[in-house]
Amino acid sequence: MVCLGNICRSPMAQGMMEYLIAQRGLDWKVDSAGTNGYHNGEAPDPRAVAEAARNGIDISGQISRKISVEDLDRFDFILAMDENNYHYLQSMARTTEQSSKIQLFMSYAAHTGVREVPDPYYDGRFAHALQLIREASEGLIKKHQLH
Ligand code: 4NP
Repeated sequence: MVCLGNICRSPMAQGMMEYLIAQRGLDWKVDSAGTNGYHNGEAPDPRAVAEAARNGIDISGQISRKISVEDLDRFDFILAMDENNYHYLQSMARTTEQSSKIQLFMSYAAHTGVREVPDPYYDGRFAHALQLIREASEGLIKKHQLH
């Protein structure tokens, strides 16, 4: 799960995925990172922690880190929260295998008609962002679970 700062959207996306994965008894691993590294080592934004908590999800233990090129090998899916993140990730890819793993997260919730999770850092719309994240997470699991 990748966004810009790794303190708002991608930590909520990691938390939501872990929550749904546990609920369904799946054996998936999820992590998150940011493209800019400005908040390296920091906990998620308190507003993201609060919104996740309102939905029964604890993201308070996550720590922000910058995406690395090794991540493109370590994970099966690299999910970008918005178009800017997507293009940044594509610019990091050195192989077609790496490149093909990078997708827009909201492509798993096409029924919403929304292509990006809007950044709530400035406008404070954390509940809206988390709702979109829930839709995409459910779509991702539905599409790729084996049973
Ligand atoms: P995020 O939100 O990408 O959803 O974590 C942001 C948080 C911080 C900054 C940008 C976006 N920032 O540049 O400080």
